[in-house]
Amino acid sequence: MQVRIYPQLDIHVIDDIKTALENVCPGVVSCAEIVALASQILVSENGGPTWEVQLGRRDSRTANRAGTTAIPGPRETLAQITKKFTDAGLDSTDLVALSGAHTFGRARCSTFVHRLYNFSGTGNPDPSLDTTYLETLRQTCPEGGDGGTLANLDPSTPNGFDNNYSTNLQNKQGLLQTDQELTLFPLWTGLLIAKATSLTLLLSP
Ligand code: HEM
Repeated sequence: MQVRIYPQLDIHVIDDIKTALENVCPGVVSCAEIVALASQILVSENGGPTWEVQLGRRDSRTANRAGTTAIPGPRETLAQITKKFTDAGLDSTDLVALSGAHTFGRARCSTFVHRLYNFSGTGNPDPSLDTTYLETLRQTCPEGGDGGTLANLDPSTPNGFDNNYSTNLQNKQGLLQTDQELTLFPLWTGLLIAKATSLTLLLSP
């Protein structure tokens, strides 16, 4: 997951919660806990599973710029992303399953506009994009337009935690290049087509 540091973002919500908590209970609940708890509530209230959040996180007092390079980027190849997951002790099944978090949320045009007009210097859009979806995305993100404009990661049910994300990928409607490329995995066909038909299966380990 990438957190967008943009003025139009809701990142101030975390500050607002933190301020409210500090007023009643100073120095106890970290921002990291707020993010973890808010994520659990968001998922379970929007159709996803529920789980008990393990607590005890502390906020770092310093920034780790070097650590940010370990986070996958939206223009990286499947091989590069797989390597980053492997370096973190995760395998390709984890990569496919965790990418399913893109069943909700938004992404800035700047993270996928390279697919819409001049993909890899070809002068053409990414051939792995559904043409109707491409037109919709071009309207949201005109060439040379505001890279900060947001689009839904899951165009069919943007605010629901469901399995439409994998169905979208089957239909060439993955917003991020990295999402769409998951379908190139040999394990995709067997694993995800089965999981796309069953939310329970999708959420299973
Ligand atoms: C597999 C590699 C991944 C890549 C390349 C990736 C990339 C991205 C990008 C580019 C965005 C949009 C950020 C922006 O526009 O600033 C995004 C959003 C998001 N990602 Fe990922 N991501 C990955 C994995 C994950 C994982 C593992 C999770 C969680 C388990 C996750 C959860 C999310 C969520 C919830 C959003 C929406 C955030 C929002 O609406 O504010 N992503 N991701």
